[in-house]
Amino acid sequence: MVKAVVLGAAGGIGQPLSLLCKMSPLIDVLSLFDVVNSPGVAADLSHIATKAGDFKGEQQETEDAKKAALSGADIVIIPAGVPRKPGMTRDDLFKINAGIVKDLIVACSKYCPKAFILVISNPVNSTVPIAAEVLKEAGVFDPKRLFGVTTLDVVRAENFVAELLNQKDSSKFNIPVVGGHSGNTIVPLFSQTQPSVDIPADKLDGLVHRVQFGGDEVVKAKDGAGSATLSMAYAGFRFAEALLKAAKGEKGIVEPTFVYLPGVEGGDAIAKATGCDYFAVPVELGPGGAEKAINIVSKANDYEKKLLDEATKALKTNIEAGVNFVKGAS
Ligand code: NAI
Repeated sequence: MVKAVVLGAAGGIGQPLSLLCKMSPLIDVLSLFDVVNSPGVAADLSHIATKAGDFKGEQQETEDAKKAALSGADIVIIPAGVPRKPGMTRDDLFKINAGIVKDLIVACSKYCPKAFILVISNPVNSTVPIAAEVLKEAGVFDPKRLFGVTTLDVVRAENFVAELLNQKDSSKFNIPVVGGHSGNTIVPLFSQTQPSVDIPADKLDGLVHRVQFGGDEVVKAKDGAGSATLSMAYAGFRFAEALLKAAKGEKGIVEPTFVYLPGVEGGDAIAKATGCDYFAVPVELGPGGAEKAINIVSKANDYEKKLLDEATKALKTNIEAGVNFVKGAS
């Protein structure tokens, strides 16, 4: 039996993500939690007859509601928090989302300390270190089970390359996107694309910028009504599904994700090379979660090395902010 929990299930990402989870043959029990309207979302989804039938929507910020939602969870996906409005960066969300993520991870540490935890709430570069510090304080941190979801950057990179090269099917491209998940911390390694692609030199800067700031296109188009929700639900589910398949024993599944490198096999070398303990890299997934970090960063070409230099500078500050948020508070 696989129990999945969505925290922030009534939101723009939470609702379509919950729908995708409800439709997944890999999930037996689905539990939805939000501070508003989650019983409504659960009632709505309950009219769809699929395998993930035994589920409930828990509301209210009570300990009992969190306990009911999280107890026995195998995988917890967290899109709880506020999204960006035009003109905002992901770091502007820190003030509100840091506290929300901290509280929810405290609950995870009590009620499902062994679950895979997938953090979507922004700024991911800081909310993942926050989650790690909370789990460390509770004595239940397993770096192989904590993931910052950066799959949307990969999805965008694959799609934008397909668009540029007039290819209809973006799913045939495998593009590693490394670093973090905001602005110039997002580094697409086009030189490592499988199958290899030839990006015209005069298009490269624009393409990199589009991957780094693609989220702004959606924020602008939604004009105050939020940020990416449908593409994010798709990306979040793509990552969750990959992890659940790997947990069941399927081999050779690799997805980029933002992890605590020193706790993952192969991560030390990348941490040393980048000076960052947290970094998004392609990770081989397995029954224990993040089985192996793949050092694709060392294969970056000169152009990409410059991007990586800029990324690591910003990323270090973001990571420190997350760590200090928890350490300073305790
Ligand atoms: P939204 O505002 O539509 O939904 C957020 C939901 O979280 C709301 O239903 C709200 O009631 C709920 N919530 C707030 N505090 C909570 C708490 N303490 N416990 C449980 N639920 C709580 O926002 P949206 O568009 O769904 O975005 C959610 C987050 O995901 C934002 O931080 C956004 O920046 C981030 N995001 C991350 C992406 C990524 O690639 N990792 C991409 C797009 C958005």
